[in-house]
Amino acid sequence: MEKIIQNGTIVTATDTYKADILIQDGKIAAIGKGFDPGEAEVIDASGKFIFPGGVDPHTHLEMPFGGTVSKDDFETGTIAAAFGGTTTLIDFCLTNKGEPLQSAIDTWHAKSKDKAVIDYSFHLMIGEINQEVLSQLPDVIQQEGITSFKVFMAYKNVFQADDETLFRTLVAARELGALVMVHAENGDVIEYLTEKALEEGKTEPIYHALTRPPELEGEATGRAAKLTGLADSQLYVVHVSCSEAVEQISAARSKGLNVWGETCPQYLVLDQTYLERPNFEGAKYVWSPPLREKWHQDVLWNALKSGQLQTLGSDQCSFDFQGQKDLGKEDFTKIPNGGPIIEDRVSILFSEGVEKGRISLNQFVDIMSTRSAKLFGLYPQKGTVAVGSDADIVIFDPEAERVISAATHHMAADYNPFEGMKIKGEPVSVLSRGEYVIKDKKFVGKKGTGKYIKRAKYGNLLVNEESAALQSSKS
Ligand code: URP
Ligand code: ZN
Ligand code: ZN
Ligand code: ZN
Repeated sequence: MEKIIQNGTIVTATDTYKADILIQDGKIAAIGKGFDPGEAEVIDASGKFIFPGGVDPHTHLEMPFGGTVSKDDFETGTIAAAFGGTTTLIDFCLTNKGEPLQSAIDTWHAKSKDKAVIDYSFHLMIGEINQEVLSQLPDVIQQEGITSFKVFMAYKNVFQADDETLFRTLVAARELGALVMVHAENGDVIEYLTEKALEEGKTEPIYHALTRPPELEGEATGRAAKLTGLADSQLYVVHVSCSEAVEQISAARSKGLNVWGETCPQYLVLDQTYLERPNFEGAKYVWSPPLREKWHQDVLWNALKSGQLQTLGSDQCSFDFQGQKDLGKEDFTKIPNGGPIIEDRVSILFSEGVEKGRISLNQFVDIMSTRSAKLFGLYPQKGTVAVGSDADIVIFDPEAERVISAATHHMAADYNPFEGMKIKGEPVSVLSRGEYVIKDKKFVGKKGTGKYIKRAKYGNLLVNEESAALQSSKS
């Protein structure tokens, strides 16, 4: 059915204006005034902002890690994402050495296909590079539309790849038109520091942070940036947590390199002291890179404001406190890394960023949606409110207030790291391709309606046939 959203204030990465939106066949068919309602459902958005649906560039749903599997899957994870105003996510498809890439991708399709309630795509982990792997990459891009490759510089003996692998991936990505993503921490030195800590009987959660100091994130970030320059390639650094890494990204960018950086809500509002909480509570805040000293938060906010960092990912990778995090009760290295963040990503950016005057409203949209859509080949089908784009829309009440709590969140995990935090601003209704997923703060979507999105190559636009036809019929 057609829908008309009336009387709202449309906010994109560049503009803020009052206009109505006509939605037909899941697309934004027109933006203007005085549409004849006819049979259409009319939605009154007086006093509300109309944002493009959020794009979360970094999630780990139902991901095996540390002898367990992350709690939120493509059903609970995408429902929670939708409640929070996210309508597209890109999840990391893990690969195993020696296994055909396609079989790893098929595993991820099987996890997501009948479960997702919003649209999604995959990044592909590269753990090794040889002729065998290289020969499969063109198909990964052409057949699957997977145009971003992830290399882990940490998690030694698990996911970590060496510099040769990273460099070969950068070279291949330049040739194929893909974006290389790195988890930038020096895994070799972390291995030494963690062994030493355990030998000294230091087993509590805080040692997770103390054995992964910011110098090691800065060093790996700088190394990856330099290799990117040498390969004349393109790099996206995930989950930037500290000043040392921001410095390296800024330095590379000032030399004209194609180096981009993402941070996450947890690094913007939480700090290392959380890992010292008694009764093993610190484990709730164990992820990598770790939380830092509080002063890093200002550096990250300023980097978002100045454009040295461009995006916000959730790094959603949730584990229950009871039964999963406690695998590491006697040894912090056995605490599964990650947290439930997907639902509050957009709200925290709005409440702490826009409401507190740290970033502008248009920057907020760019950071939570548009820039990720552009970098990862989803734009303009996703990431903006424009004629021809998918009608992925958030109707947002800037005056609403709530308190974050595990008692009311929609994620499967049994705790929320932002418990008790006061939030201003909240999505009221969320549309995915013109259909309600959230209506008046209630879930009305259906599992399995989320579509897998094949993305464009790095630097290219994603314009599918229907929207191309729509755009040419309007011009
Ligand atoms: O601790 C984290 N971040 N867990 C998810 C995996 C990763 O490194 O992104
Ligand atoms: Zn497929
Ligand atoms: Zn990571
Ligand atoms: Zn991650």
